[in-house]
Amino acid sequence: MHAVGIDIGGTKIAGALVTEAGEIVRSDRTPTPAGDPGAIVDAVVGMIERLVEGEEVRAAGVAAAGFIDEQQSTVYYAPNISWRNEPFRDRLRERLDLDITIDNDANAAGWAEYRFGAGRGVKNMTMLTIGTGVGGAIIVDGRLLRGGFGAGAELGHLRVVPGGLPCGCGARGCIEQYGSGRALLRMANEIADVGGIGLRLAGLREHGGQLTGQHVAKLIAEQDPGAIQALRELGGWLGQACASLSAVLDPSLFVLGGGVASAGDLLLDPIREAYLAHLPARGYHPEPSFETAQLVNDAGVVGAADLARLHQQSR
Ligand code: BGC
Ligand code: NA
Ligand code: ZN
Repeated sequence: MHAVGIDIGGTKIAGALVTEAGEIVRSDRTPTPAGDPGAIVDAVVGMIERLVEGEEVRAAGVAAAGFIDEQQSTVYYAPNISWRNEPFRDRLRERLDLDITIDNDANAAGWAEYRFGAGRGVKNMTMLTIGTGVGGAIIVDGRLLRGGFGAGAELGHLRVVPGGLPCGCGARGCIEQYGSGRALLRMANEIADVGGIGLRLAGLREHGGQLTGQHVAKLIAEQDPGAIQALRELGGWLGQACASLSAVLDPSLFVLGGGVASAGDLLLDPIREAYLAHLPARGYHPEPSFETAQLVNDAGVVGAADLARLHQQSR
């Protein structure tokens, strides 16, 4: 039976009706309403109602960019959205006659890659999503690791710099501050500030001060040396974090997803390099593969739908 998957990000809400084989039947998207959690509930309810119209659907999975509890009902905390102990599942259940589960957005994306994408058949896989924040998903022996309180696999908040930059989670020095899309933007602007090799970067800034994410994406597509340097910096941090993750999880595959991962080898090469330079037992520890996500922007909705369907079937 089809299921609905919804993916709530910092900037947009995406939704889809998804088959058991992970194929999208129909989809929808809308900007994330700012500030008010109630407005997000309204937007999600409306989207689910439109997606299920005329279909027999029992389960909907909602993926959100935050720390989720063990019952998969409450968002404890979201670093980049204004949720604090938000009883999100109950708010949706009050208004929808469906089996609803809440999941972390990166967990959903990682699950989709494991089931239908880059990680098919790889029973020990770790995924990092590189967007506004840095998300994580851990597949161990073919199962999603959730932890004792539900909020495991928050890989964006691994500390890479003691006393480093403050993070939206309240701690300092998290990889999210050095390996996210926002960090990439900061690095690109710093390179432009010193005039460095970013001639084009500097040129774009003449018109309005800071570079935007769109500028940086365009510069990467054009292989601008300044933008490539920023990606190398980003990849350097991510590669170090992956080396530490290997010491804990020893995955045979790392999948990199999220918007920034569309840079492909321009990001993967520096990640692999830094990984090998920092890997414990290097030279003797087998080398995992590093791949970009295959489901790209659809991973969150496809994974959320699949997890909701499996959850509903197991009840
Ligand atoms: C949040 C995670 C989320 C990630 C990607 C992080 O800031 O803590 O819950 O998965 O961003 O959206
Ligand atoms: Na996660
Ligand atoms: Zn953090």
